[in-house]
Amino acid sequence: MKTYLVTGGAGFIGSNFILYMIKKYGDSIKIINVDKLTYAGNLENLKEVEHRDNYKFLKVDICDKEEILSIFNTYDIDRVIHFAAESHVDRSIKNPEVFVNTNVLGTLNLLNGAKQSWETEDGYKKDKKFVQVSTDEVYGELEDEVSFFYETTPLDPHSPYSASKASADLLVKSYVNTFHFPANITRCSNNYGPYQFPEKLIPLMINNGLNSKKLPVYGSGLNVRDWLYVDDHCKAIDMVAEAGHKGEVYNVGGHNEKKNIEIVTMIIDTLLEMLPEEDPRRKYISHDLITYVEDRKGHDFRYAIAPDKIKADLGWEPETSFAEGIKLTMAWYLDNMDWMERITKGDYQNYYNEMYRE
Ligand code: NAD
Ligand code: DAU
Repeated sequence: MKTYLVTGGAGFIGSNFILYMIKKYGDSIKIINVDKLTYAGNLENLKEVEHRDNYKFLKVDICDKEEILSIFNTYDIDRVIHFAAESHVDRSIKNPEVFVNTNVLGTLNLLNGAKQSWETEDGYKKDKKFVQVSTDEVYGELEDEVSFFYETTPLDPHSPYSASKASADLLVKSYVNTFHFPANITRCSNNYGPYQFPEKLIPLMINNGLNSKKLPVYGSGLNVRDWLYVDDHCKAIDMVAEAGHKGEVYNVGGHNEKKNIEIVTMIIDTLLEMLPEEDPRRKYISHDLITYVEDRKGHDFRYAIAPDKIKADLGWEPETSFAEGIKLTMAWYLDNMDWMERITKGDYQNYYNEMYRE
């Protein structure tokens, strides 16, 4: 039985990954979820697995060196799937320090924990793997509308968030080079799907639309992101963990570029399509809610991933079309308005008011 140490498993992608893996492998794997439960961590996402004998949650900060070492000494970990991070660009512009602590120093602690527990006299125990879940933002931005990020594209992070992720990637690479450490790095484009915290574009627009609040579009709305349905990402991570060639980087993308304004328009149209005629919220949902606001500082123009290498090496391709994925996502939010209500109380309100000056 393989044991997975999933960091940040109470966050958006981490919780989707745990649900995906339990659905796929059932009792044949064990998952240890290490999460500090920041504002972005929510154990409610994992309700359907929390009772299982092969799932365990540990409330631990990855910056706590001693705790991390002790986890590696207690459990025989086969896979580290490292999601835990501060993940929101806007927050990194306001407060970069926590991004350096968690994303860089936290990653270093995990590398050291895994290395000391996996090392043998002549290398490493068999079949161990560390997957650093990174981002296409480490490549900076594309200034045109035709080129793509490849694994060979030079790192050129622009925000404190992406600089911290690039730093972590370089640490992982240094462990591969210096210690022949068994790791892969995945670099993914924008994910969307259930359980995403409503500070990010898609859930924020769905939530605001349903509450007849303004839909704040940064700058011109013409910036482009390459959207990937979260389950497709989870599948890619599992494939890289199993079959990724040691030390390699894999880009993971959705072949699905959209301008922000297209996304916001599509969300309004889909809400009107999905809500029943008699739903009172329909009256207030319209394109008039779209409000252009001050641009994000240093706003990257376009991201677009070429996922050619992961397709050639591992046979992975995105499977969910945007038309299908956005409907699945919006249906999930409509069915889980109480989830949204619970997490948008308290701290979220303060963040929202400060960020959007309301
Ligand atoms: P998220 O913000 O939803 O979740 C992050 C999780 O990490 C939360 O559960 C939080 O409590 C936990 N965490 C934060 N600091 C911690 C610490 N010090 N110790 C332990 N746990 C801590 O993030 P996400 O969107 O799920 O992203 C997961 C990973 O994927 C991140 O590494 C991010 O950089 C990367 N990524 C995200 C996207 C995306 O579109 N969301 C795209 C590419 C890459
Ligand atoms: O590309 C991968 C990255 O995608 C991940 O590494 C990050 O963790 C993840 O947060 C995401 O970063 P972005 O900055 O692209 O995502 P966000 O949802 O914050 O913004 C998407 C686009 O929408 C971006 O161009 C900014 C714009 N935007 C965002 C918000 C929250 C708006 O126009 N209005 C908004 O209110």
